[in-house]
Amino acid sequence: MVLNEQPRTVWVTGATSGIGRACVLKLLGLGHRVVALGRRWDRLHQLKESLPHAPLYVAACDVQAHEQVRRVYHALPVDFCAVDTLVNNAGLMLGAGTFDTLSADAMHTMVMTNCLGVLNNTSILLPSIKASTRGHIVNVTSIAARYPYVTGHVYAATKAFVEHFGANLRTELAAERVRVTNVAPGRADTEFQSVRMAGSTGTEPAPAAMAQAVTPLAAEDVADTICWALSQPLHANINAVELVPSRQALSFR
Ligand SMILES: NC(=O)c1ccc[n+]([C@@H]2O[C@H](COP(=O)([O-])OP(=O)(O)OC[C@H]3O[C@@H](n4cnc5c(N)ncnc54)[C@H](OP(=O)(O)O)[C@@H]3O)[C@@H](O)[C@H]2O)c1
Repeated sequence: MVLNEQPRTVWVTGATSGIGRACVLKLLGLGHRVVALGRRWDRLHQLKESLPHAPLYVAACDVQAHEQVRRVYHALPVDFCAVDTLVNNAGLMLGAGTFDTLSADAMHTMVMTNCLGVLNNTSILLPSIKASTRGHIVNVTSIAARYPYVTGHVYAATKAFVEHFGANLRTELAAERVRVTNVAPGRADTEFQSVRMAGSTGTEPAPAAMAQAVTPLAAEDVADTICWALSQPLHANINAVELVPSRQALSFR
């Protein structure tokens, strides 16, 4: 059995809030080096300022833009350039209504961020991940990828894309000892819902009483699961994890 105890260098997208930020803090607490990314520079700067001695490098970039991601990767300081682990976490849902209420811009942004963003980061980081003996790619998908629901449409389909991409990539990378894990959370208490509602043209169906009673996951719950998958012995790959609030019966409640 090959133990899995050495510090990693982990590239985390969507690190300015929610699950990504919780991952960064957890990974640093476990002694790993972290490259934290997002578009909001003020938040990244604050994060770095609050942890002056942590092995943390922050950089602003939009995951939709291959060139921006590539530039950040090629500008990494020497201590951070041997990235062996990628957490494809950046993502968003836009719009609260049914598909016919969704704007063309919202469709485009979801597909470009959730699908192309994952492809951009994976393709740019893959040579470095493959060069390691302990490479690992974690994709944050969603239970929406697996269980259809009214108003899921484009968002759920983008997450199904990522899930399928991850599972297929694993078949190619298994021989190279690169592990791939899809983590599919249910409802989590992050900025996800406020991003979704901002500028929404649709109306969300009224939540059932049961939905209101659900205690959502904390971002830290999902971060713990990601770190658990990373910490498994190197001969073991966690293919997929579904993680939902105990009282969440369906993907939307
Ligand atoms: N919360 C839930 O209920 C839930 C459930 C299932 C799955 N998920 C998934 O979990 C992941 C994390 O979401 P969250 O819940 O933590 O929401 P969140 O708090 O809104 O965080 C989303 C992160 O994604 C980043 N992001 C969005 N668009 C980006 C872009 N174009 N380029 C770079 N970064 C971008 C945001 O940073 P900037 O705005 O600074 O760029 C932010 O850091 C997402 O993939 C989401 O689909 C969430």
